Amino acid sequence: MQTAALLKTDAGETTEFPIPAGVYAEKVVSVKHYTDRLFSFRITRPQSFRFRSGEFVMIGLPNATKPVFRAYSIASPAWDEELEFFSIKVPDGPLTQHLQKIQPGDTVLMRQKSTGTLVTDALTPARNLYMIATGTGVAPFASLVRDPDTYEKFDRIILTNTCRDVAELAYGDALAELTREDPLIGEFAGERLTYFRSTTREASERMGRITSLIESGELFRAVGTEPFNRENDRVMICGSMAMLKDVKALVEATGLVEGSLSEPGDFVVERAFVG
Ligand code: A2P
Repeated sequence: MQTAALLKTDAGETTEFPIPAGVYAEKVVSVKHYTDRLFSFRITRPQSFRFRSGEFVMIGLPNATKPVFRAYSIASPAWDEELEFFSIKVPDGPLTQHLQKIQPGDTVLMRQKSTGTLVTDALTPARNLYMIATGTGVAPFASLVRDPDTYEKFDRIILTNTCRDVAELAYGDALAELTREDPLIGEFAGERLTYFRSTTREASERMGRITSLIESGELFRAVGTEPFNRENDRVMICGSMAMLKDVKALVEATGLVEGSLSEPGDFVVERAFVG
């Protein structure tokens, strides 16, 4: 077990910081930058680490005696040998101003326990599962759409991805394609996974906030379903605070009831990482 990590300070000196107790020190395997606001990275997975698809972990960097940790949804499926995360870059964000500079071989800290409400066990079974994502909110769904259990519980998965511009949609676009082509999950996902995308600030084939597309019925017409109803539909929501509030209000207005692990219900919400 690693107890200290070497890190270059901004001044270019190499310093050794202790790894806090209850924290894994993992190596960065790869980093992919999508836009000047979004990037993804993959780290090694501790052998003993188990998680439920849709959960998040606390991520930090070994650059201080008391490192800053932030919640990150795990974007890789439970069967993956590595762990993937999808992140925003905030210029003065306490963590992301540094995290956006990581390179393969660097050390990333991860608290040992995962948790979260965006898990299929918090929902009762039904025909359709809508996964409503904006921005980096697509991350937990990247795990869930590649989990065979999701397809055991629901007949159809409708993943929605709304971002400011087309370039920001790239992560979700690739996810939908990779999932259908995956030798293991493609067999389940096939025709049963529907991907619906829109932009709000750049012209694209479909424009509008997901709230408007739900209210106008455009979402349901496009994917060939009926407006939300309690009998057939379950909903998972992940995005900014404002987005969660607005989508939750729309969903609740149709009679769906929020669920939790102790009392599974019709929908669950989780805030996407900020800062
Ligand atoms: P908009 O461009 O109109 O703000 P962000 O990257 O800021 O989290 O935004 C991701 C997406 O979420 C954007 O398309 C944004 O639209 C949209 N969005 C922001 N606030 C809301 C909200 N209250 N309800 C629905 N969508 C929202």
